[in-house]
Amino acid sequence: MSTTSDPAASGAAPLAQAMSRPLASKGGARTLAVTSGKGGVGKTFVTANLAAALAARGQKVLVLDADLGLANLDVVLNLHPKLTLHDVFTEKATLEQAILPAPGGFSVLLAGSGMVEYSRLTPDVRDKLLHIVDLVKPRFDWVLLDTGAGISDVVLFAISLATDVLVVATPEPTSLTDAYATIKVLATQQNRREVGLLVNQANRVGEGKLICGQLQQVLQRFVGSKPGQTFKLELLGEVKSDQSVRQAVLKRQLVLEHYPGCDAAQAIKALASKLLG
Ligand SMILES: Nc1ncnc2c1ncn2[C@@H]1O[C@H](COP(=O)(O)OP(=O)(O)O)[C@@H](O)[C@H]1O
Ligand SMILES: [Mg+2]
Repeated sequence: MSTTSDPAASGAAPLAQAMSRPLASKGGARTLAVTSGKGGVGKTFVTANLAAALAARGQKVLVLDADLGLANLDVVLNLHPKLTLHDVFTEKATLEQAILPAPGGFSVLLAGSGMVEYSRLTPDVRDKLLHIVDLVKPRFDWVLLDTGAGISDVVLFAISLATDVLVVATPEPTSLTDAYATIKVLATQQNRREVGLLVNQANRVGEGKLICGQLQQVLQRFVGSKPGQTFKLELLGEVKSDQSVRQAVLKRQLVLEHYPGCDAAQAIKALASKLLG
């Protein structure tokens, strides 16, 4: 993994720089942002199936499609929503109307795809998203935010709404470099000292631990250059590359429901157990 070029240092935009720490501080649900540096690494697969695993453990879970602009949680869950976050934003629907039941026993608040007005963090988008998260938090045990990839303002803002962050990365060098950049931005701009890592599409058992150790080393070298500061990247899960995942996505089904015995389903259940402590 290269640490010489530093996309994190130059890619941050002014609004995101203003956010020095997570905004989520009020009581209620545990908020977890599932994010990544690179796109297509498995965030939506992990979020949807983690929600189902937590629901199976008796938790009341809401997944908020925070990949504003390029939302596709509805596709993965085979839902055809008439009302979305967009309608709540524009006051055409109430929150109650837009929160839908999903297969897997959890609730979803879906976003429309191709909404260019949400791909930039305007003060309006910022206020509305913050307001909605504040409104849903008291009603659930968990609010999972399925964010977009990268370090744009809108992604960083969505992450800032969550107390905890899970970064999903695959073992590919490009994914790892981007994961490093993302985590570094979270450490510097949001003052996060602890971030969770899930290595997805691992090629062999133990690869997640190896990758986490390497990332932790470079991150600690960076964050630890400031006196008294430590940084902890915690490996929360390792999901092997699994044909059942591809099949489930193609059929628009949850792996957990349709291939409950497969490696990936077991790994997601283990992630839920770890999060529940
Ligand atoms: N563990 C895995 N094994 C095999 N394929 C996977 C795995 N995780 C994800 N994929 C594949 O990667 C694709 C992208 O996943 P997705 O969750 O949509 O990514 P993201 O939300 O990060 O853009 C899925 O459609 C699926 O085919
Ligand atoms: Mg996605």
